[in-house]
Amino acid sequence: MAYDLKDFTAQEKIKLLAGQDTWHTEDFNGRLYKVKVSDGPIGLRTPAYNEKTDKWEDLPAVAYPSTQVLSQTWDKEIAYKTGEFLADDCIEKGVDVLLAPGVNIKRNVLCGRNFEYFSEDPYLAGVMAREYVSGVQAHNVGTTVKHYCANSQERCRFWVSSEVDERTLREIYLEPFRIAEEAQPWAVMCAYNLVNGVRMSEHKKLYSLLRDEFKHGDRLIMSDWSAVQDRAASLKAGLDLEMPYSVDGYNRLMQAYKSGEITEEEIDACAKRVLDFIEKCERTSQKRKIQSTQEERLQGALRVAQEGIVLLKNDGVLPINSGKKVSVIGHCAEYYTSGGGSSRVVPLTNPKPLHEALKDTLKGSEVTFKSLYEKHENFYVAVNEAYGKDVAIVCVNNDAGEGWDREGMKLNKNQEMLIAETAKLNEKVVVIIYGGAPIDMSDWIDSVSAVLWAGYPGEMGSQAIANIISGKVNPSGKTTESFPYTLADSIAEYSHADFMKSVYEEGLFVGYRLYDGENTAGLQTLFPFGYGLSYSEFDYGNLKCERVKEGVKVSFDITNISNIAGDEIAQVYVREVNPKVIRPYKELKQFARVSLKGGESKRVELLLDMHAFEYYSTALDCWTHTPGKFEILVGASVEEILLQQTVEIE
Ligand code: BGC
Repeated sequence: MAYDLKDFTAQEKIKLLAGQDTWHTEDFNGRLYKVKVSDGPIGLRTPAYNEKTDKWEDLPAVAYPSTQVLSQTWDKEIAYKTGEFLADDCIEKGVDVLLAPGVNIKRNVLCGRNFEYFSEDPYLAGVMAREYVSGVQAHNVGTTVKHYCANSQERCRFWVSSEVDERTLREIYLEPFRIAEEAQPWAVMCAYNLVNGVRMSEHKKLYSLLRDEFKHGDRLIMSDWSAVQDRAASLKAGLDLEMPYSVDGYNRLMQAYKSGEITEEEIDACAKRVLDFIEKCERTSQKRKIQSTQEERLQGALRVAQEGIVLLKNDGVLPINSGKKVSVIGHCAEYYTSGGGSSRVVPLTNPKPLHEALKDTLKGSEVTFKSLYEKHENFYVAVNEAYGKDVAIVCVNNDAGEGWDREGMKLNKNQEMLIAETAKLNEKVVVIIYGGAPIDMSDWIDSVSAVLWAGYPGEMGSQAIANIISGKVNPSGKTTESFPYTLADSIAEYSHADFMKSVYEEGLFVGYRLYDGENTAGLQTLFPFGYGLSYSEFDYGNLKCERVKEGVKVSFDITNISNIAGDEIAQVYVREVNPKVIRPYKELKQFARVSLKGGESKRVELLLDMHAFEYYSTALDCWTHTPGKFEILVGASVEEILLQQTVEIE
C-alpha cells in the first residue's frame, strides 16, 4: 500500500520515529504494515512468547558458523549463499529485516564481538558483507549493516569515544560500509560509541557522508538498541528510527517540537524514510518465497564450516587414517559453542558431539571420549585417556561475547594445563580451538602436533571438524585477522588505557598493516593474516599484469602439485613503491578461491580497479593516487608473497 505522510498528524509522525516495541515498527493498530526485525548475523534470533513458561524465548533456527568462520572461507559465493539461507530462515519466521551483517574492523584483538565481524581488513570485510547483503536481499528480506562506525571494542561501549583521524576513518573504518553500500542494504544501524567526541546516534557529518557519498540516500538509518541519548539531537542529525520504543525519546521529541527546537520539516524527513521502509517491507513481503529446505540450510552451514575452519599447524598427524586409536578430551567436544549476546542462536537441531561425529567418520578407528577435566579430581582421569592412543585430540574453548572484552588472549589455566599434560603422555596431540578471536598459544604450541582453528563453527561444526580430521574434506580456510604472538604484540593494551576515549593512535596500521614491512616495533605474529594449511600443495606462476582502462588486469596460474584435490585462496596485495604520503607497506585489493583437483592447474584472472591504488587525501578531500610505480604482489598469505610485478600507473 502506498502511504502518504500527509495522512499523519505531527504527533503520529513522531510516534513513527521509534519502534512500537523491541522488534517492530509502529503500525497504528493495523493502519500500517508492521515491520518485524530480528538479529543476525550468525543465524536468526527471533523471540516468541511461550505460554507454557510465560516467557519470551528465542525460537530455534539454523546456527551457522560465526561471521569470523564465514570470512575465513574467502568465498564470495558462499557469503551470498549464506545470505540466501538466512533470508529463508527469516521468511519462515515472518521476519522482514535481519539486523546484520556487522562489518566493524577487528582493531582490538580483545574485542568481545570480533566473532561477529568479518576481518581486520576493510576490503575483505566490505566485499564479504556486500555478498551477504545481496544474498539476503535477493529473497526480498532486508538487511541492516552495523554498527556505524568505529565500534571496535565492547568495553564502555555506551560512552567511549573512538578518536580516529580522518584518513584512517576513511581508509579503514568507513571502507567496509562504503563497499557494503554497493548492495544497497535497506538499513544501517548506528553504533553505541562516539566518534571524535560525537555520539554515533547524533553524527550528522558521518550520516551525510553515508547518505550522499556512499549513496545510502533515503534508505533507513536506525539506532542500535537504546543507543539514543538525546532523540531531538539524533533527529536533527538524520537518525530515522529509534529502536526499541522509548517513552523518553517520544517525550523528548514532543517537547522539542512544541518548543520549536525541531521543525515539522525535520520530522518529515525522517518520518518519510521510515514510511518508505515500511512500504518496502510490505511490498516485498508479498513476493517472498522460501527456496531452500531446513536440511539444505544445515548443509549450507556445514559447508561454511568446512571451508572456513583453518588448519594452523600440522606436522603430518592429520589427516588421521582409519584403524587408529583416538581419544577426544575436553568438555567443549560435547557442547555447541558460540559467542554470547544478541547474535546467539538457539540451534535448530541437537548438535552432534565431536566424538560422535568422529566415530561415524573415522570408520574402523576406535574413538573414546573424556570430558570432565575441570574438576581437579577428574583432571588426570581425562588426561590419562590420551595414554597409549595413536592420537589425542584436545578440545579447548575461549569465551567471547557482546558487552565485554576479553581480559587476555590466553586460554584459561586449566585448558593450558590440559594441553601440556596430555602432550607429556602422547606424542601426537591435535588441539582444536573453539573461540571468537586469536589466542596466545606461545606456551604450548611447540609441544603439539596440530592445531585446528574451529572458531565458533555452528551447529554442524562437529561434522565439519570430523570431515577435516579424517581427510574427507581438505582444509582450506585462511585467517582473516592476524594472530599476534602474545597480547604485547597487539595494540589492545593501549587502546584500553582510558575508559572514555579509545585513541586510534596506530592510525592506518591496523591488523597486518601493523606487522608488515619495516615493523620497527618488532611486533610478532604467530600466524599472519591470510594464512592456512591444506593437505594439498600449491604452486603459483606466470604472473601477468596488464594496464587496462578500468585499472590493472592481473592473471596468474595456480597448480595443485599434490594428488589431493583442494582449494587455494590466493591474495593480491598492492604496494606503492615510492609513496609521497605515509602508506601501509602493502594492502589487500583482490582475492580468489580456486578449487583444484590433484595435478590440476588453473589461470586466475582478477581486475584491480583504480581504487586499489588510491589513498584518501585529507588535503584534497578525496580519494586519489600518486602517479608512479606500484608493485602487484600475489601470495598465499600476507607473509608469503610468491609472485610480484611492478606496474606504472600514470
Ligand atoms: C546490539 C545489536 C543488536 C541489537 C538488537 C544491541 O545490543 O549491539 O547488534 O542488533 O542489540 O538485539
